[in-house]
Amino acid sequence: MRQGQLLSQRLLTSMRNLEQSKGKFLSPPKPSQFEGMVDFGSNDTLSLTTSGALTEAFLSELKINPGFKVGSTSSRIFEGGSKYLDDLEKDLAQIHRAESALFFGSGFDANVALWSTIPREGDFILHDEYVHASIHDGMRRGKAATDSFPHNDCDGFRRRLQSLVDEHQDVAEGKVFVFVALESWYSMDGDAAPVKELLSIAKGVLPHQNAVFVIDEAHSSGLLGPRGAGFVTELGLEEDFHIRVHTCGKALSSTGAVILASSVVRSALLSYARNLIFSTAPSFVTLAAVRAGYNLITSEEGEKRRHQLQKNIRLFYANLLGDPGWANIKREEIITLPTEKIQNHKAILSPIIALVTLPGKANDLAEHVRQAKFWINVAQHPIVPKALERVRICIHAHNSVEEIRGLTRKILEWAKSQYQHQPPSSPSWSQQRSKQAVTLVGAGTQGTRLAYMWSKLGTTVYLLDEISDKPKKALNDVVKLRFKNLSSEKWGTIMPGSFDMIKTALESSWLVIECVPENLEKKRAVLQELDSHASLETIITSNSSSFTIADILNDSEIVDRGRFANLHSLVEIMGSENTHLEIITKLIQETRAHGFDPFHVRHQSTGFIFNRIWAAIKRESLAVLQEDVASVEEIDSIYKAITGCRKGPFEQMDIAGLDVIYDVEDHYTAVKTQLPVGPRDLLQGIVSSGKLGVKSRGGFYSYEEKQDSQ
Ligand SMILES: Cc1ncc(COP(=O)(O)O)c(C=O)c1O
Repeated sequence: MRQGQLLSQRLLTSMRNLEQSKGKFLSPPKPSQFEGMVDFGSNDTLSLTTSGALTEAFLSELKINPGFKVGSTSSRIFEGGSKYLDDLEKDLAQIHRAESALFFGSGFDANVALWSTIPREGDFILHDEYVHASIHDGMRRGKAATDSFPHNDCDGFRRRLQSLVDEHQDVAEGKVFVFVALESWYSMDGDAAPVKELLSIAKGVLPHQNAVFVIDEAHSSGLLGPRGAGFVTELGLEEDFHIRVHTCGKALSSTGAVILASSVVRSALLSYARNLIFSTAPSFVTLAAVRAGYNLITSEEGEKRRHQLQKNIRLFYANLLGDPGWANIKREEIITLPTEKIQNHKAILSPIIALVTLPGKANDLAEHVRQAKFWINVAQHPIVPKALERVRICIHAHNSVEEIRGLTRKILEWAKSQYQHQPPSSPSWSQQRSKQAVTLVGAGTQGTRLAYMWSKLGTTVYLLDEISDKPKKALNDVVKLRFKNLSSEKWGTIMPGSFDMIKTALESSWLVIECVPENLEKKRAVLQELDSHASLETIITSNSSSFTIADILNDSEIVDRGRFANLHSLVEIMGSENTHLEIITKLIQETRAHGFDPFHVRHQSTGFIFNRIWAAIKRESLAVLQEDVASVEEIDSIYKAITGCRKGPFEQMDIAGLDVIYDVEDHYTAVKTQLPVGPRDLLQGIVSSGKLGVKSRGGFYSYEEKQDSQ
């Protein structure tokens, strides 16, 4: 009894803490909140359940199977199977044009089984960053190494795949598989995977064609393709996707899922998938509902519902985007539609439509819409990244024209009220449309890398430095980098120049990033200068790795600090208490679009997320050395053996430059007085003896030999 109370208490405390930090405590709505409302939330997009059609088809299925047993009584590896299940699987394989099918109790189970069983140790899984949680859980249980690429980003995919080839001989020689995990229509954004492009990239990059493409069709199953067979069959790519997952809980409106694959993959799953072997087989009731759903979606009636659904989706887009106020709403980023561009040129659209709001506003929009008895869902962190919270709408075949008009009216009404509430003095960044360029101040290593990244989507980049020949040299390095990656055809122009060009550069830049050396006074002076030249719509950021934007602005004469943020090159984005939230959102969206992996540093922090972790590793390595617990070589060796990193802490410090490492550590010890000073003092001694690492041919290691033999 006492233990039970203690456990409840512990759970309550941690849930409360999480709630306070706006963490992972999700509370589902009560049925009374949504019952009786018009459904713009559920996955029943063909309206099979809400219209009663599935109930009718299910009852007919019961009638034609009068001797049915309700329960399956056992696992499938004993006597839990049935002829009904075998027949259903054979029919599903045929409908989806696959060699065989294996039924699971849910899509979650199917993905866990698949990803934990089929890829083996030594294989790699490269997944889109937005794939479903069940795929992540499966991968976690499996033994293959995993890597991700930015959502729907073909260049990012190519880069990650190429680095697997470059870094792993087994991949290059075709001795292991690279599994590629995708969704057809993504569940949160409603956009489609660029499957043809991804397939063609894999063909070009992998000399031995050892990619295994796997697709989760949860949100497309039943909604396109011949007889609703899905995305892959619509495109005729059955041969290219070795494994497909179709779930039955979305458009099909029942529960369960089916894995479509070769009969060998099917046998392997039946033999090794723990959540299939050690679990009771699906009951007749589940199977009959799935059969009833398939009877509907493969019929003439299914075709009509698909047609009506597409009409309704188009109507929704036309009403929302055709409103004269939409341009303002969009410009102010009150609502952003990830599917806005694609809806124009895709023949068949996903019924999922995301309305990404400014942070903290999605609930507000949902409440406004719900007042009119339209039920819509909100997707918040951790389901989506914090800065991308949204209202998630699902259009249905049975939504009437009036309901769709009513819904868009309510959305527009809310959005316009937000627009009208914008304080007139607040800069809206509205003229950013005419400002397309990015300016980088400082053309060192960071400036070069940033010029490469920011020029990717055709953006003009101004690359300025006080040392006049530096930008031209940096431009050469960028060209070399581009040459290595021939994929992008949209490279923007890089304009190298001295600081004298700053006014011209800022006139056309929506973003400026200071990346001058790590010296507070210098950074302060540069930001002051930028503030005096840049008009209010230009966002000003610092690439500093150790000074917060608040540190840099401290004691400066800058009054309006709302447009300033840290944009550290890894990329970590951190505002000060004055930074406008819209700026953080915009930076996250733009950095992601340009191939960075952005992270939002939620609170002001001395040092960024990774820098702090890295600083601790460096500090402790230095302490271990200082206490003579282990040598430089031993520390690097153990670090590499355990973490799998290619370089140890001392090797990495030598590369970064020991003077730079000293400056950072000196800053940390000055700000955080509880830190030990021994590691810093050890560094200071080494630096004052002239050893700066690779650049001075000596640091923790000697580089003389290496350099001379090159
Ligand atoms: C892409 C995707 N895969 C798998 C699942 C899990 O399917 P089920 O609900 O049948 O467990 C979902 C459900 O949210 C999904 O969106």
